[in-house]
Amino acid sequence: MEQRVKRGGFGGKLAAILAAAGSAIGLGNIWRFPYITSENGGGAFILIYLGCILFLGLPLLVAEFAVGHNSKCNPIDAYSKIRKGWGWLGALGIVSVFLIMGYYFVISGWTLNYTLASATNSIGGDFGGFFSAFTTATWKPLIFTYLFILLNHFIIIGGVQGGIEKASKVMMPLLFAILVVLAVYSLWLPDGREALVNVFTPDFSKVTGKTFLDAMGQAFFTLSVGMGAMLIYGSYFKDGTKIAGTAISVVSLDTLVALIAAVIIFSAGVENESGMQLAFVAMPKVFSTMPMGNVWATLFFLLLGLAALSSTISMHEAVTSYFVEKRGMSRNKGAIIVTIGVLVLSTVASLSLGDWSDYKVAGMNIFALLDNFTAIVMLPLLGILTAIFVGWVWKKEDMKAELTAQGGIDQKTYPVLRFLLRYVCPVLVSVVFVFGIKAFIENL
Ligand code: PFF
Repeated sequence: MEQRVKRGGFGGKLAAILAAAGSAIGLGNIWRFPYITSENGGGAFILIYLGCILFLGLPLLVAEFAVGHNSKCNPIDAYSKIRKGWGWLGALGIVSVFLIMGYYFVISGWTLNYTLASATNSIGGDFGGFFSAFTTATWKPLIFTYLFILLNHFIIIGGVQGGIEKASKVMMPLLFAILVVLAVYSLWLPDGREALVNVFTPDFSKVTGKTFLDAMGQAFFTLSVGMGAMLIYGSYFKDGTKIAGTAISVVSLDTLVALIAAVIIFSAGVENESGMQLAFVAMPKVFSTMPMGNVWATLFFLLLGLAALSSTISMHEAVTSYFVEKRGMSRNKGAIIVTIGVLVLSTVASLSLGDWSDYKVAGMNIFALLDNFTAIVMLPLLGILTAIFVGWVWKKEDMKAELTAQGGIDQKTYPVLRFLLRYVCPVLVSVVFVFGIKAFIENL
């Protein structure tokens, strides 16, 4: 009990939902989902993606919340408390989330520059030129990345309730409000509805093995599963917070935001532009042709920045909790170590797009390597291992007690969840994983 008081936690159910939805809703929804969708045949991809969210992502999210809530520990201790000798699984998650932070913070920094440049109308007419000059420069992207990291740092040292919860309660409503304003505006655009129908109409001819791989990777990434971020948030849930209900709210909000983001982007008529340039080149270009374009562009990048910030604090917290609880450091000291680590890694990732772009590992610069390695190798692997842990390693009665009592899962739904975690997740994810690795290696 004493430890629980010392650890801190969320004040109530709403805080738990907002913080966890904040972790889920991020660059993955607004920056990545739309371009992956357009690359994979629109509606067909969305159907497969929704299947992955429902049958793989949701059970894994419930599982991760349950491990955190049951143990009330940082990711490493959480696994080893439930089953001795399994702490490495938490460590693997922490390493993965640290690697993700390396490139994620760089893109997050870009959102700051773009918000500022849109507000001051200083992007100019050459959108592609602005993007490549900025992202390959030495100092400018670094400065914005560092600013973003500092912002995170201050929220984290504010504590679970005073920092993360407070920030989520401000950021998430603002994020939803901006999203709704942009969505209403974009549907009102003349070409909007037509472009929308085109994108959401399934084109099954574009579906390949890679489509499944992309859909599953996106589902895991967008729900932040397997990496300890949701585990640590679950460990801060107040007793009485229903795990399954919270997971369903988070998944619904996350899916809704991804779909609305796709509506906004596609109805602006940019569905053919692909890759990471979609948000940073195509969108400002479209906005520039609209009345009050810089206001819309500013709102759009503010939205992207808010989404990124609410996600990065969960990543930072997952790693900080390790230093605080496992290494016995103060919160301030633990957070400083993580912040410095992230500063170094994101510096390397940012420079790898410009000055250090000749330095390649397996044909990729460090930025792309961090992205691909975590998405293709670590995310599926962690998904498989988490499912195996909860489905097979965790003592059956204890797991059932956690899920049906605290979890709020009724006796009829429980066997379905158990079946998904024991069989469906490990088998399906393994199949996709093997194909993913094969494709990854062939592409090297
Ligand atoms: N879910 C976030 C997104 O969609 O952008 C990314 C993320 C957050 C991944 C937290 C991992 C994590 F631990």
